[in-house]
Amino acid sequence: MFGFNYYTPTKVVFGKNTESKVAELIREFGGTKVLIHYGGGSVVRTGLLKKVTDTLDAAGINYITLGGAVPNPHLGLVYEGIELCKKENVDFLLAVGGGSAIDSAKAIGYGVANEGDVWDFYDYKRQAQGCLPVGVILTLSATGSEMSDSSVITKEDGLVKRGYSSNYSRPKFAIMNPELTMTLPDYQTACGCTDIMMHTMERYFTSGGNMELTDELAEGLLRTVKKNAVILRDDPKNYDARAEVMWAGSLAHNGLTGCGNDGGDWMTHKLEHELGGLFDVAHGAGLAAVWGSWARYVYKNCLPRFKKYALNVMEVANTGTDEEIALKGIEATEDFYRSINMPTNLRELGIKATDEDLKLMAKKCAVGVGGKGGSARVLDEEAMLAIYRASV
Ligand code: NZQ
Ligand code: ZN
Repeated sequence: MFGFNYYTPTKVVFGKNTESKVAELIREFGGTKVLIHYGGGSVVRTGLLKKVTDTLDAAGINYITLGGAVPNPHLGLVYEGIELCKKENVDFLLAVGGGSAIDSAKAIGYGVANEGDVWDFYDYKRQAQGCLPVGVILTLSATGSEMSDSSVITKEDGLVKRGYSSNYSRPKFAIMNPELTMTLPDYQTACGCTDIMMHTMERYFTSGGNMELTDELAEGLLRTVKKNAVILRDDPKNYDARAEVMWAGSLAHNGLTGCGNDGGDWMTHKLEHELGGLFDVAHGAGLAAVWGSWARYVYKNCLPRFKKYALNVMEVANTGTDEEIALKGIEATEDFYRSINMPTNLRELGIKATDEDLKLMAKKCAVGVGGKGGSARVLDEEAMLAIYRASV
């Protein structure tokens, strides 16, 4: 087992009607002037935003609002948010929504707390020295951004999608009411389940050594999400299934399932980020579309883990060679994606990518990882292109 730092400072307030605690939580973390940041309007339609503003009004907490964070959130709105916060002396950011609203809020927080261009952090030019405090009311179980140190932003010029991670941006609190996710379209629920599983799998398929407890946690989390994703497909209002998935989403990306590994693989995510940047697809669906091609490209270099996953997560029969078992596990994963209406290739994702598109994505992906990346198998630009080509 490798040494590790495990840092999860986020106060989690979980359960029905927990959004009513938002004012006291903002006070607890010192907020006096709040920017409420949200997405394209789902929180307006569901009435959640009104509930939040009513609660802040009743508590006498000052706030302003900024909506418009799109899926694969844009840098332009981040700049707008930074200017607004500076002008209005905002000292606390409240993100109400999914990963896009949360990530956009984190980026605004960096921009307010640091001089210069906030994109520098996402462009690997320098490190942030702070971030305005961020609180979250979560409406979509997926990215784990409500407890994670990362945010992912797309620069419109050149459609460059990049992530930046720093502990400064870990939310102060995360309000998680599973009922708030019941208004999601089924497609977004399935995308979320896929993303949650992938955050665990990225940390699981590594060339690192023994990590027995972490593996058990990861396998249990994966089995739980797999089971409850199917329940939600058939019964979207099932509270317990919503709750299992919501908690799994946070634990999948707060670092827990990475303790003791060698940092994780993360290449499926890097390959998807290029897809999301260029074609603006839903993140979870993009991951499902490239995972099978990635897995077939790398599994021989990480055979014991692919076998363990096939047996303990996908529960395939323990017969045949290790390679056969590993391949059955990959096939079972794709069957599972299909069963929850997720794509297993770019065509099913609805993308008609030309070979020039694939080359461009492989090139940008290689630049994004500093030339080579991955742990299950280290990939260079040529390998990335081969995986994209296999996923068409
Ligand atoms: O924008 P609104 O109108 O709110 O609608 C959203 C959006 O259309 C809708 N939605 C959210 N909650 C809803 C709802 N609709 C009805 N009822 C609700 N309760 O769902 C759509 C998708 O929302 P979005 O926030 O974009 O989804 P998600 O949470 O999957 O976030 C995706 C973004 O996060 C990044 C992704 O790359 C992508 O940009 N990621 C962030 C990570 C992190 N910060 O740690 C890690 C991830 O790996 C990921 O890369
Ligand atoms: Zn993800």
